[in-house]
Amino acid sequence: MKSHLYTEFNKLYNKEAENAYFSPGRVNLIGEHIDYNGGLVMPCAITFGTYLLVSANNDGVFRFRSLNFEDKPDIPLKNDYDKTDEKWFNYPLGIIEYFLKDGHVLQGLDMLFYGDIPISSGLSSSASIEVVTAFALNDLFDAGYSKLDLVKLSKSVENNFIGVNCGIMDQFAVAFGEKNKALMLNCDTLDYQAVDSNLGDHILAIINTNKPRKLAESKYNERVQECRSALTALKQELDINNLCDIDTATFNKHSHLITDKVIYKRAQHVIEENDRVKLAAVALSNNNLAEFGRLMYASHASLRDLYEVSGKELDAVVEYSKTDANVVGARMTGAGFGGCAIALVKESAFDNFSQNVIAYYTSKIGYAPSVYSSLIGNGVGELSKVGSL
Ligand code: GLA
Repeated sequence: MKSHLYTEFNKLYNKEAENAYFSPGRVNLIGEHIDYNGGLVMPCAITFGTYLLVSANNDGVFRFRSLNFEDKPDIPLKNDYDKTDEKWFNYPLGIIEYFLKDGHVLQGLDMLFYGDIPISSGLSSSASIEVVTAFALNDLFDAGYSKLDLVKLSKSVENNFIGVNCGIMDQFAVAFGEKNKALMLNCDTLDYQAVDSNLGDHILAIINTNKPRKLAESKYNERVQECRSALTALKQELDINNLCDIDTATFNKHSHLITDKVIYKRAQHVIEENDRVKLAAVALSNNNLAEFGRLMYASHASLRDLYEVSGKELDAVVEYSKTDANVVGARMTGAGFGGCAIALVKESAFDNFSQNVIAYYTSKIGYAPSVYSSLIGNGVGELSKVGSL
């Protein structure tokens, strides 16, 4: 399928694609709704992602084509762009606008995108398309940004052009991911360590609930706002910049400052989840998968009961997982409100797990989930370097 992309490019534009890039999607092993609270997260890049084939043109036009979507806009080179509804090309267009506003001289581009990440599944297809575009423009026009600059500018496009107040985890993970490693990222300092994700005889299963994610963006922004309210309340007594600057014990001493019950639950999730990531890192380095799995289940329960971003679909996957002796842990991953769950499953029992979780979910929810076994892959790059088509 992927070598087919060059042929498709040729058919569309009647010329060869000069450059090709790939950026993966990501899963987050643990540390959910933590990045915009300045704490620790543990994502890894997956082998599904977004491909971009591109050639410059002399027509002063950005031509956006995708094998996933029907819209085929040709947008002239100018200085200012507006977001068009919820269209897919807003992401690369926002990146182009950022480069232009930052003073870079660009040429028109003939582009072909293709993604094999299920869209709206919580595996960061948006960060993936942003980062692949930013990486390509940086390379094609010698813009001189570092990889970390590309991460930051992609996040800023998501925040300001797209309008989602996301943290930095997704863009960071898809840019810096490393094969078979999880990234322990401190979202406040942006220090990170690539740690061996040694799962022994277990593999990572991704279960897509296939639930259409409605209202996800507005609910997400609502959670960000709730965390800001919690921080403001705690700052009356504590000299902190982020909720994750304190641990659970300190939170318990000062929690009387938060009088609103909902805001209290949100803060409790964030602070306890951040402590769980620290424990998870120790468990992973000791190859203690049972403990890692316990922390995953605890993370899910907290996202369900305190942060309230799960739902009956994601819960059904975790409920089934708890009954399967070949699963050590499972949880929702990403923003929630539908999307994907992950489970650590004994490799030899994966097919069995897959059949059983599909049957359980379908009988409860009324339609089937999709189940994948995932490899942990590399971050963004030129295709010849990250693996050829
Ligand atoms: C989405 C956001 C991330 C992060 C996760 C939740 O994926 O884009 O920044 O907040 O949700 O952990």
